[in-house]
Amino acid sequence: MPDPDARNPEPSLMGPGACVRWIFRSLAPYRGAACLILLGLLAETAFSAAVPMSFRYLIDRALVGRDGRVLVVILVGLGVAAVLVSLAGLGRDYLYARTTAALLRDLRARLFTHLQELSVRDQAGARTGDVLSHFSGDLGAVESALTSAVPWAILPALDLLFSSVLLFVLDWRMALLSLLIWPVALLGPRVFAPLAARASYEKRQQEGDTLSLVQENLSAQPVVKAFGLEDWARAAFGTQNKTIFQSAARLNFLSSMVERSAGIGILLLQVLILGVGGYLAYEGQLSVGSLVSFQTLFLTLSYSLSYVTQYTPQLMQAAGAVQRLEALLAQPTQRRDAGEPPAAPDRWREIRFEEVSFGYTPERRNLDRVSFTLRAGERVAFVGASGSGKSTVLALLLGFYEADEGRIRVDGRPLEPSQLAAFRRQIAPVMQESFLFNVSVRENIRLGRLTATDAEVEEAARRAEIEAAVRDLPEGFETRVGERGGRLSGGQRQRIAIARALVRNPALLVLDEATSALDAAAEAAINDTLARVGAGRTVLMVTHRLASVVDVDCVYVMDQGRIVEQGRHAELLARDGAYAALWEKQHGFTLSANSDYAAVTPERLRDVPLLSALDAESLATLAPRFVTELCPADREVVREGDAGDRFYLIVRGRVEVLKEGVTGEERVAVLTDGDHFGELALLRDEPRSATVRTVQPCVFLSLVRESFLQVLDRAPELRDRLEEIARQRG
Ligand SMILES: Nc1ncnc2c1ncn2[C@@H]1O[C@H](COP(=O)(O)OP(=O)(O)OP(=O)(O)O)[C@@H](O)[C@H]1O
Ligand SMILES: [Mg+2]
Repeated sequence: MPDPDARNPEPSLMGPGACVRWIFRSLAPYRGAACLILLGLLAETAFSAAVPMSFRYLIDRALVGRDGRVLVVILVGLGVAAVLVSLAGLGRDYLYARTTAALLRDLRARLFTHLQELSVRDQAGARTGDVLSHFSGDLGAVESALTSAVPWAILPALDLLFSSVLLFVLDWRMALLSLLIWPVALLGPRVFAPLAARASYEKRQQEGDTLSLVQENLSAQPVVKAFGLEDWARAAFGTQNKTIFQSAARLNFLSSMVERSAGIGILLLQVLILGVGGYLAYEGQLSVGSLVSFQTLFLTLSYSLSYVTQYTPQLMQAAGAVQRLEALLAQPTQRRDAGEPPAAPDRWREIRFEEVSFGYTPERRNLDRVSFTLRAGERVAFVGASGSGKSTVLALLLGFYEADEGRIRVDGRPLEPSQLAAFRRQIAPVMQESFLFNVSVRENIRLGRLTATDAEVEEAARRAEIEAAVRDLPEGFETRVGERGGRLSGGQRQRIAIARALVRNPALLVLDEATSALDAAAEAAINDTLARVGAGRTVLMVTHRLASVVDVDCVYVMDQGRIVEQGRHAELLARDGAYAALWEKQHGFTLSANSDYAAVTPERLRDVPLLSALDAESLATLAPRFVTELCPADREVVREGDAGDRFYLIVRGRVEVLKEGVTGEERVAVLTDGDHFGELALLRDEPRSATVRTVQPCVFLSLVRESFLQVLDRAPELRDRLEEIARQRG
């Protein structure tokens, strides 16, 4: 849910004047066109002022004075001028359309470029909907203000100028009187326009909130459906919709007040002027022609003025939009390399983390004095519990974030932000969540190296063992993968991500749980592949599956942001510390190659606290009673509050444990290979204390209470002890 409080405090609002200045500044590159447009507009205005002026001569001289020559001259002159002005108007329209479109194109490009260059931190802080509303709502508001500027603001403003001058030429007394129009027409807008501006800014912000909410809801549809959250989602949207309804209603009303307050005053003034003019003409102090000219000019003037006031709300909306756009553009970007891109170490020999500490937020340290050295050609692995900071190490290595303390050195030199791009070119990551763009499989792989040939792309696919599957797709390599790769399975996406890394032919291959979405057979195959392509390359991998780190050069064991152990597999096992405990946990299982059948050894069951009191014979009876359960990603295994009769061991995979909290479901733990849950269900019929959902495809071994109790019946004296253990743990 978008959190409106998370936004920056509201800035002071941009006024219409500032917005106009901003538009002028943006027009700078199109100065020539702008001047031509202005000339065209002047011609048009001069003409439209000439028509009412001509009435004076037409009526007084040609008609009343019965002078045929004057009549012909005036009519022919007007006719020729009308044709010329229309032609000029056509050209002006064309130029204007191009110029405003170009201005918006520039702005759009600037915004997009800016978004690319924001730091990962700022990008993560930005909500998708907000960003989208910049591109739709804000640019739209600027566009509509620009396109209606000519008929609603510029022409009327020029008309105002011309007709005011001409009024004085016609009759200074009435012209003075007509000056009253300014205070009358501008008083209302002065009061209402600032209110409308604030309402407009608020509405824009809320449009961003709404888009964020809709976007989040769309991407969360599997969760919404699985948990039956439709009503909850509708209620949340309803609240948001109500807020936006209120500000839209306020904005529309205030906008019309701006127009109406001006309109009423103008109307009254028109009546007054007609009265005074009529009286003067009646008294013979004003010719009839002058009266008609004056009235027509004054009508033009008042219409022009009311156009301008009607345009003001639109300009205010654009001002709100410009302000939001400028706020985004003012965020500092990561690109700091002014001038020459400095030469990065072409082939680095050593990357060194020196006492690196880092927190995503100031309150928490997610990495705590992490030091390690990665030499070219080495294979190292980071292991450790979920949330211990493994992916964070990679994020810092890739320069997504800067260390709060400590340094990262490449060949002894600190990694400068300006060298990041060059440094990153030597790295190919396969991330924990592989991202695919909605383009063809071929293009997705080619993203690893944009210059790769088709043959190289296909070769990479072959080495990532995805080629056959791709050829089976309806259009083979040309098949589009859907949004975020939605038309492919998790395993296929992961393999395409691996192919993308391979096509880069990197010096350093970074693998973050690169095989986690695959079944055991596929994992073994990919690991073989990775071992082959990794030969002669530096490999840094993150995994929670210890079987794949047995032969790496160095294993770093992480716990709560720190490296707690390091060394080779055998050394670490011998040390009997954190690594050995992890290893122990993941052992004692067998899994068939295609992952559809698993088993557990009786000895392994002893590591489960509740079962640890059982004797060897009971454990041996119990072990075969475990049943293999396969579960795809994003499924609920148990639900908080439901009755449970089953205990689960995770053979492979990853689940999250969720509890209902004050702010909805909160993730309280992540469990992976070797972990277990649902112990209490073995003893009693109690509601589940938490929800467990798979994050990745999982293989479980489950045991139903009945089987357990049957075994327990043979050793009734144990039951009390188990109850005791359960109480302690519960
Ligand atoms: N973008 C983020 N903003 C705030 N906190 C984050 C962010 N990413 C990760 N964290 C926190 O940082 C800690 C370390 O996360 P990290 O992703 O490095 O763990 P990990 O070891 O890779 O875990 P896993 O095995 O689940 O991938 C966690 O406590 C996590 O909640
Ligand atoms: Mg991770």
